[in-house]
Amino acid sequence: MDTKYIRNFSIVAHIDHGKSTLADQLLLLSGAITQREFKEQILDDLDVEKERGITVKARAVTIHYTHEGEVYELNLIDTPGHVDFHYEVSRSLAACEGALLLIDAFQGVQAQSVANAYAAIEADLSIITVVNKIDLPVTRIEEVLEEVETIIGLPPDEALRVSAKQGIGIHDVFKAIIKHIPPPAGLADAPLRALVFDSKYDNYRGVITYIRVKEGTLHKGQTIKFMNDGSKSHVIEVGQFCPKMVSCDSLGPGQVGYIVSGVKTLGDIHVGDTVTLAENPAEKALPGYAKPQQMVFCGMYPIDATDFEKLRDELHKLSLNDASFTFAPESSDALGFGFRCGFLGMLHMEIIQQRLEQEQEIDLIQTAPNVTYELLLTNGQTQLIDNPENVPDAGQIQEFREPIAKTAFIVPGENIGTIMQLCADRRGIYKSTEYLGPLRAQIVYELPLGEIVYDMHDRLKSATRGYGTMDYEIIGFKESDLVKMDILVKGVKVDALATIVHRSEAERRGRSLVKRLKKEISKHQFEIALQAAIGARVIARETLSALRKNVTAKCYGGDITRKRKLWAKQKEGKKRMKQFGQVEIPQKAFLSVLDVA
Ligand code: GTP
Repeated sequence: MDTKYIRNFSIVAHIDHGKSTLADQLLLLSGAITQREFKEQILDDLDVEKERGITVKARAVTIHYTHEGEVYELNLIDTPGHVDFHYEVSRSLAACEGALLLIDAFQGVQAQSVANAYAAIEADLSIITVVNKIDLPVTRIEEVLEEVETIIGLPPDEALRVSAKQGIGIHDVFKAIIKHIPPPAGLADAPLRALVFDSKYDNYRGVITYIRVKEGTLHKGQTIKFMNDGSKSHVIEVGQFCPKMVSCDSLGPGQVGYIVSGVKTLGDIHVGDTVTLAENPAEKALPGYAKPQQMVFCGMYPIDATDFEKLRDELHKLSLNDASFTFAPESSDALGFGFRCGFLGMLHMEIIQQRLEQEQEIDLIQTAPNVTYELLLTNGQTQLIDNPENVPDAGQIQEFREPIAKTAFIVPGENIGTIMQLCADRRGIYKSTEYLGPLRAQIVYELPLGEIVYDMHDRLKSATRGYGTMDYEIIGFKESDLVKMDILVKGVKVDALATIVHRSEAERRGRSLVKRLKKEISKHQFEIALQAAIGARVIARETLSALRKNVTAKCYGGDITRKRKLWAKQKEGKKRMKQFGQVEIPQKAFLSVLDVA
């Protein structure tokens, strides 16, 4: 295929600005899908994605479009739109020469529009601004274009105006792609270098590797080599997504498609890796392979210990399709045997939890999430901590470091003060404010990731009545005065409730946490002391008095069905409880750590 007729592009947008709808519309107009399939939103095919309306995994699709008598091969590479998946976004963009920056005609530029546009600029892509949803009864098209110019620096004159939903202006999108995005470079007879930008597990064919050929040609039947670890594999099939998998004989420079080879597990394929040929390999890999770093961890424990193996199988299945999710067995005094699970961020964690709950019937106790910390020990070694339980004695720690995220908020002008207060309360360091127009501003802070992950997003939404958006990027670890806070129930440490907090915040959090626990744990036949402690020093205490009344007493005189209902409800509640010594602690208590941030 002559590269002159190839274009590789992504659509970058803030969540809900219409990326999937536009992608579908492009497929529909080019005849790749039917009207009925259009309605079913084919690019987002995972259930969870549909439910949450978020494109989680990057995908690709090849569209054939005839322009001035020539058939063009347009490869649309889908990018995940959310903060947790920055690395995947950057890899997808590295497979393109251009990007459509899609912006909602009413909502305008939002935090992820800016983050994704910058990522595209960094990847040196040609960017076409597309204002979507021009069919809405109220739009702010001119202002939106001004915002794009002010904050991202793209001129408004060449911007397109479309309605993805109603199919308005879509041919102009095709024309702009062909006109403004450069065709790929690369020689067909050079040693093969192809970028791996995604992979997925298929029950029938095994691992499917998504590639973009940069140079050289890959034929079916050849043996490839992954340059990251030198592993080799026989190519059983190559092909393109149209959008169904269509096999072909070879993929040449600039082309985007897939490889089916002998690779058995998804963990063996690394996004960002370079594929070359085992015979006549390229000398240097393409730039940019980084291992995804799990930044958020939590424990997952089966309530019924006999479910342990079942849970392991379920987690394993999930990891087959998501190499950035990790899990390892761990044990807790309080919760028994379970797993420590690692995620890229909070959203990633929620998605995995949701999948687990949808696909299995195991009752789980899940502990409050924590971020990854770095310790410099007095013996000169550094250690990453993914579980507060593993923090060594204070005497062994020279420096306690926490991850810092550069965080950008886009908020209505009237909410600037509230957001600044919110950040100040969370130990944020102010960086800048920039107005997008008369009504909205971008505020940038450096915030500890641990302070963001709990509830920042919810707080932002409530402070701005849903209008504020945020995006963050981890910029490194920084020393901070952190301590491990233990929780004792009836004099015994409950390891699963331990947290890492800033020393200045410890007392306040300790107090509200024990208060909260008092509410969550029901009364027993005896008095229960709830304490928060740093080392041997107790910093907060509450006492849960002994039970006196019968729970059904308040139904006295009532009919038996009401009592039965109450008992049944209690039984239901018990399922998610864990007996700890003499005390029963409900699932919610393990998450109450979150509510006292
Ligand atoms: P994520 O996958 O969450 O990133 O969202 P997305 O950007 O893919 O957005 P999606 O295509 O799912 O569209 C979000 C919502 O906007 C849906 O309810 C669409 O029907 C609606 N929408 C998309 N394009 C248009 C449009 O041109 N006009 C109107 N009125 N609504 C649109």
